[in-house]
Amino acid sequence: MDEGKQLTGTLALAVFTAALGSLQFGYSLGVINAPQKIIENHYARALGVSLERSLTLENNTDLAEEPKHPSVVMYWSLSVAIFSIGGMVSSFLVGFIANLRGRVKGMLMVNVLAVIAGLLMGLCKMWLPHIMVIMGRAVMGFYCGLTSGLVPMYIGEIAPKAYRGALGALHQLAIVIGILLSQVIGLDFALGNDEMWPLLLGLSGAPAILQSFLLPLCPESPRYLYILLGKEQEAKKSLLRLKGPCDTTPDLEEMKREKEEADKEAKVSIRSLIFSSVYRQQLFVALMMHLSQQLSGINAIFYYSTSIFEQAGVGQPIYATIGVGVINTIFTMVSVVLVDRAGRRTLTLAGLGGMCICAVAMTVGLKYQFDLPWMSYVSMAAIFLFVSFFEIGPGPIPWFIVAEIFSQGPRPAAIALAGCCNWTSNFIIGLTFPYIQALMGCYVFILFAALLLCFTLFIYFRVPETKGKTFEEIAAIFQKKHQMAKESTELDQLKTSSDA
Ligand code: GLC
Repeated sequence: MDEGKQLTGTLALAVFTAALGSLQFGYSLGVINAPQKIIENHYARALGVSLERSLTLENNTDLAEEPKHPSVVMYWSLSVAIFSIGGMVSSFLVGFIANLRGRVKGMLMVNVLAVIAGLLMGLCKMWLPHIMVIMGRAVMGFYCGLTSGLVPMYIGEIAPKAYRGALGALHQLAIVIGILLSQVIGLDFALGNDEMWPLLLGLSGAPAILQSFLLPLCPESPRYLYILLGKEQEAKKSLLRLKGPCDTTPDLEEMKREKEEADKEAKVSIRSLIFSSVYRQQLFVALMMHLSQQLSGINAIFYYSTSIFEQAGVGQPIYATIGVGVINTIFTMVSVVLVDRAGRRTLTLAGLGGMCICAVAMTVGLKYQFDLPWMSYVSMAAIFLFVSFFEIGPGPIPWFIVAEIFSQGPRPAAIALAGCCNWTSNFIIGLTFPYIQALMGCYVFILFAALLLCFTLFIYFRVPETKGKTFEEIAAIFQKKHQMAKESTELDQLKTSSDA
């Protein structure tokens, strides 16, 4: 069957349904920013303190710089940070959940968490809002840690190889649409106001309800059914539903070979994956791809953009931030279109290289903006371009490339480790960025430029192209690398012993 005709309605439904989990992830990432002031006010009321510390104490300019009550600051910071902590913990469980009852049932099961989290936040005014929101955000983070692994795994396993990149990048597209949606709904004339903010937060659970209705209509991953459970007939049925009437023999043959390989090895746990030399090359690539996504400074940019827009004289920086959200979405769409033509390697290289140049431009803009007013426009343009380059490659590709470069056996463990690396580095950047910024001032982006340069070189020398290749072919590339590394070590040992 012609690969070009493999985009069936069932495949589209399955990918759309899975991506609802990613939408929820993006919404939860973005929703907390706009209504910060309003929520802090409610926290202050519930805690019986005044939000403005300067109101309770005498008016003095020092305090004006840090006007919020410390308890409010603490509960607010916790509401933000606990989300990442939830994700860091649960990303370890992705493999377990995915293999327990399958990918589809796994996604269905974890939706309970999203609904609970939505209810906790949506009904937070009924009890202590700060405690309810923190609990809701923790559960939501836990849910998102699972979903950020389960969705790319399922999509990667059901996508025909010609569209694996485009369909894989839909995970990121749904994330950025979720971020944008939360920014728009979070405007004060919509739900980001004193009355409606619990609904704004509570809505993060809504896509899970829709997804729960649609998941039973989605076919289970044929690779899970055949390679893990050995159910050839069911795998075939699933393949036929996903691909439409076609000859399933080549797919089944490929899976059969992969199953034979997998049966030869012991079960790959997270621990054995870390210590096994066989998968070292792949694991290194997977972790570096995720580190490059987070240490590129993308989330620092999201954080920093508002103040740069303010300095550039933008009256309502929130609209400029929404502008960043729009650019973010547009360029992710560009990536969806390009990724199976230009390839993962090329787009990641172009993206990281472009971001590196933008980070330098941003530093120059920030440094000279007080001497030359037009320089603030250089910073603004650099922000928009930085985000565009990110979404071309470094944003979407790490999420799905891990599912591509690992075969069925180690895939769940690898996705769990890569996810944990992503969440942890995201958390660390979020936590430390304000301090690094205070320390380095406008030179903070030089740090990211240096990191971006290192990652660009790494990708250039170490990451092979996976576009249009079967899982078997990709595994073969890494096996060859592993073999070469092993031979060169053996040769070195031989040389050392003969020298001795
Ligand atoms: C990626 C990152 C996430 C970031 C988002 C921005 O999904 O993992 O941390 O906020 O892109 O678009």
